[in-house]
Amino acid sequence: MKAFKLSEQLLLGCATAATQIEGGDYHSNWYEWSVKGRIQNDESTIVAADHYNRYKEDIDLMVSMHQEIYRLSIEWSRIEPKEGVWSEEGLKHYLDEIKTLNAQSIKPLLTLHHFSHPQWFEALGQWKNKKSVFYFKRFVKKVIEVLGSEVSEYCTINEPNVFANDSFIDGKYPPGDQGNTIGYFKASKHMIQAHLACYEMIHDMRKNMGFNDTKVGIALHLAYMEPFKKTPFNKMARNILDYSFHTMFLNGMIEGRFTFPLGLQGKRTKKFCDFMGINYYSRHFVHQNLNPTKLFGEVKVKDNLADEQVNDLGWEIYPKGLYHLVKENYEKYQLPIYITENGIPDAEDQKRAKFIYDHLLEVQMLIDEGIDVQRYYHWSLLDNLEWNDGYGPRFGLIEVNYDTLERHIRESGHFYAEICQSKAITEPMLQQYLKQTR
Ligand code: FCB
Repeated sequence: MKAFKLSEQLLLGCATAATQIEGGDYHSNWYEWSVKGRIQNDESTIVAADHYNRYKEDIDLMVSMHQEIYRLSIEWSRIEPKEGVWSEEGLKHYLDEIKTLNAQSIKPLLTLHHFSHPQWFEALGQWKNKKSVFYFKRFVKKVIEVLGSEVSEYCTINEPNVFANDSFIDGKYPPGDQGNTIGYFKASKHMIQAHLACYEMIHDMRKNMGFNDTKVGIALHLAYMEPFKKTPFNKMARNILDYSFHTMFLNGMIEGRFTFPLGLQGKRTKKFCDFMGINYYSRHFVHQNLNPTKLFGEVKVKDNLADEQVNDLGWEIYPKGLYHLVKENYEKYQLPIYITENGIPDAEDQKRAKFIYDHLLEVQMLIDEGIDVQRYYHWSLLDNLEWNDGYGPRFGLIEVNYDTLERHIRESGHFYAEICQSKAITEPMLQQYLKQTR
């Protein structure tokens, strides 16, 4: 392992999402989901890390960790708990939180939909309903009216591909449908339409407010996909899944065109993203599955991986995948790259420092090759609710004691803080944090 410098242009920080850390919201569909017992060990969304009440303390921790940027999401159900009814309290809360970040010079990147939404939206069929685009746009309009002067950067919808898959194919997220391919494609189409509509609207609204620094983009989950075996069927399954999970969304959200089975639209000249946000975690080996309700593929982890190659959720740790995906997509779309999520569940904090080292090394390699990577947001600042997997997986640079809600910066958190401060990984840092793994 060698010491290396990070480019000064690369801004460093963390990412979180409202439902996963805030607690206290009785109007979201994920609260309803937890009441139905659909989260591991019957866990509830209600307390989480109590970030809603402790955001000031958490921002102080971010300051102590030299964070330059922060990707957070706002909870739609706190702002519009009933259809068409706006909560002044919810809006004021986010305004205060964002003002606190700005006062500390931590630049926010605001996600407008991160997997959760109000119960009334769920009851109307959520993203499967054609009118979802109208509802979401109306909500975003309200958000920009209130927060638009404080926030210049937005992610519209987090990981629409994972969302559609887990809600309609795998049944892990509400409404819990399994094998509903029609639901998958319908919801995907509406989320793409919502992104395109909001891209234009946010730009127009902020322009009218006198700002010309608006950036709107996506945060798409990209898995590094390979065929499980090099057989023609495995290769075909890999390509089908790569298309329906990645390319179909990129065609839509970046290029503004609906391709099969959403439509048959040719190239357009304009782009509908100012940056490309990539959430990267792992490599997926794809095995063919003749079942169309599984989108013809099944994802497997490589056989016989050593312990240091897997995280606590059993996902393979594969830093090179980040390199390949960023390079390929940068060459294709020519957009500035933000790594909007990258992290590891690691309760013992034995693998996180190396994970950070290995992934940042790939990022720096990309920059050295002339690829415009501008941001790295580590997932996550705090331990949090890992959706249907509950509170077991520990993704935080900061450990949360769920009994007392006390925070404690992990060793890897100190390592990351030093990286953020010095924009380098130095020999003494390697000695201190990565001695065992060298
Ligand atoms: C991503 C989600 C994020 C978090 C990480 C581990 O798919 O966007 O909320 O759960 O995975």
